[in-house]
Amino acid sequence: MDRKPLIAGNWKMHTNIEEARQLAAAVVKAAARVPDREVMIAPPYTALAAVESVIAGTGVMLGAQNVHWEGKGAFTGEISGIMLRDIGCGMAIVGHSERRHVFGESGRMINRRVKGALQSGLIPVFCIGETLEQREAGQTMQVLENQVRAGLDSVALTDGGQLVVAYEPVWAIGTGKTATEAQAQEAHSFIRGLLADLYEKNIAAQIRILYGGSVKPDNIDILMQQNDIDGALVGGAALNAESFERIICFQ
Ligand code: 13P
Repeated sequence: MDRKPLIAGNWKMHTNIEEARQLAAAVVKAAARVPDREVMIAPPYTALAAVESVIAGTGVMLGAQNVHWEGKGAFTGEISGIMLRDIGCGMAIVGHSERRHVFGESGRMINRRVKGALQSGLIPVFCIGETLEQREAGQTMQVLENQVRAGLDSVALTDGGQLVVAYEPVWAIGTGKTATEAQAQEAHSFIRGLLADLYEKNIAAQIRILYGGSVKPDNIDILMQQNDIDGALVGGAALNAESFERIICFQ
């Protein structure tokens, strides 16, 4: 099954508008060299408009770092999928480990965000991943299964391209400690099986599963060689033009 690789940069709470413009311009250049893969960048909300003006018409996709499920309303501090579409976003990260663990977002809330994204025509980049404690207690697969079943509860898909899943082990995020390619492949293959249980075979086989957690220029190639790793969700290394260019141009 052909799944076009996707390299996504999550800029988190970094970059002012000028830094965002410059970084986006470097991403556009790198992405143009490798048309066989997709590239998405998710700047902070304050830089979405500036980044959109740099990447418009280039094929690089704009992503948001979260999305609310309602179109509008009294939800101070939230942004709706309609607003994100309006500014040019095609994707939205949902359920990132920082949203789950720092901001206490529940599986049910994340499920609503996934549905809200889909309803407004955004592709959710639905993140899951176990903590170190859970891994050491041998609970990894159970945690992933619970997160997938809660997050995708009654989420209907007509096409596997409508959803991206990101496996980001919490212990690998921002720690410099990447999952080995074998650990990542094992988790991805398990997630693929869960998706096959939830969706029709051809739809499940099209859903891209990204790996995230200390992805760097020196580990991207081996990660991308694994059967069930369809791309990467990159944090720290996406903030440096040179290292993100190298990741985009993985071999
Ligand atoms: P790092 O690449 O900095 O570990 O962050 C990963 C991440 O959280 C991407 O969403």
